Amino acid sequence: MTGSDRTSYAIGFSDLDQEVVVDRLPVEGKLPNWLTGALLRTGPAKFDIGRQTVNHWFDGLAMLHRFGFADGAVSYRNRFLRSQSYCEAAEKGALVRGEFATDPCRTLFQRVAAIFDAKLTDNCNVNINPFGGAPVAFTETTLPVRFDAETLETLGDYGYSPAIGGSVSIAHPHHDARRLCQFSYVVEFGMKSRYRLFAIDDEGGAECVVAEMPVDRPAYMHSFAMTEQYLVLVEFPLVVDPLRLKLAFEPFIRNYRWTPERGLRIHVFDKDGRGLLKSVETDPIFAFHHVNAFEDGGNIVVDLVAYRDAGIIDQLYLARLRAGAAIDATGHLTRYVVPLQEQGDVFAIQVAEAMIELPRIDYELCAGRPYRHVWGVGRRNKDDFLDSIVKIDVLSGETRTWWKEHCYPGEPVFVPSPGRTVEGEGVLLSIVLDARRGRSYLLVLDAVSLAEIARAECPHHIPFGFHGNYFPN
Ligand SMILES: [Fe+2]
Repeated sequence: MTGSDRTSYAIGFSDLDQEVVVDRLPVEGKLPNWLTGALLRTGPAKFDIGRQTVNHWFDGLAMLHRFGFADGAVSYRNRFLRSQSYCEAAEKGALVRGEFATDPCRTLFQRVAAIFDAKLTDNCNVNINPFGGAPVAFTETTLPVRFDAETLETLGDYGYSPAIGGSVSIAHPHHDARRLCQFSYVVEFGMKSRYRLFAIDDEGGAECVVAEMPVDRPAYMHSFAMTEQYLVLVEFPLVVDPLRLKLAFEPFIRNYRWTPERGLRIHVFDKDGRGLLKSVETDPIFAFHHVNAFEDGGNIVVDLVAYRDAGIIDQLYLARLRAGAAIDATGHLTRYVVPLQEQGDVFAIQVAEAMIELPRIDYELCAGRPYRHVWGVGRRNKDDFLDSIVKIDVLSGETRTWWKEHCYPGEPVFVPSPGRTVEGEGVLLSIVLDARRGRSYLLVLDAVSLAEIARAECPHHIPFGFHGNYFPN
């Protein structure tokens, strides 16, 4: 099939305005009877806001989606997150707070005023994580938003304590099952900028600072890595002069500069208060997503999806995507081995030929530990969008693929089968856009073989989103 007779993926970047409640979606196949819980996802669903169209995929207003599983049936509902950003934009008919690559339309006076009173966005369109015992929606600021896991009703900002501070944060915290806490970090911009790693207790939500590191030009980092004992910041050379950010004459990410001469800097921090233990430097790359990390003798192994440079960000501007342009920046699963001792050099190897993004692992069994399997979305056709689901064996590089013509899957979320002891036994849940039919469906795959088990068809298309998680009953 050539690009010309393929149905464009571009419908995945058109707005979805309807909010629906469906008790029972039509299901093909048979769902596992142990699947009783909910897949909660977030993603941008409104790109055209009154008189303004946002610039970038990452800028659309967040919508929550809930697929509920019980007795072999699937329910569905969706609802816009009524964040402060959403409510202000709805009232004004345009953005009021700056997003990743789009700013509000401001007069010169308003621009100057914004230097002193820029409000952070709480448009949490990136991820949903369990936080303090309940699902919470995240974007890349210190304003996560709580919502009702059944009705998807917005409940209000989560609010970190003043001790955590910062303004920019991440939507990919890590859960530590032994210490019963979440680890994350913030960036504090100022005359003396710093990265601040912190922990939040599962019970009660008490927050404490784990480590800090001063930085002259903070990097854009979308995620970080965790082993059993360490937290690892991989500092890509996409960096910002904090003053530029403060002046805010350009949208957030456009203030960052690709500075390859800085190299890639990998910083290893102790989880239990010993601070920064090691920093190494190697050749520059860019990544959004870490896959996993673990300790291996005197080394730390960090796996991530590496790009040659930060050009992938430019490829995800909305005008390109709405025109159905190809994404030709390619992310590969890449392994960094970092020696903890004084001696020894960091080195990197590409794990597999296949392109991968939005990676997931058997987190419950393998987070921070040696592991074997990673699932993600891939691209079979070089001149297309993400058009397949891939599974990579990180030991052998062997790759399996699921695909269907005209279909564009999202992040495959792994759900372990109950009582399993072997890594990777369970199912994958992915929202797939059937571009020819103009609708999305929830796909259930066997996580071992990638064989289709079932699918449940939605009443509409679901714009391409980013992340979510499964919450068992
Ligand atoms: Fe992400």
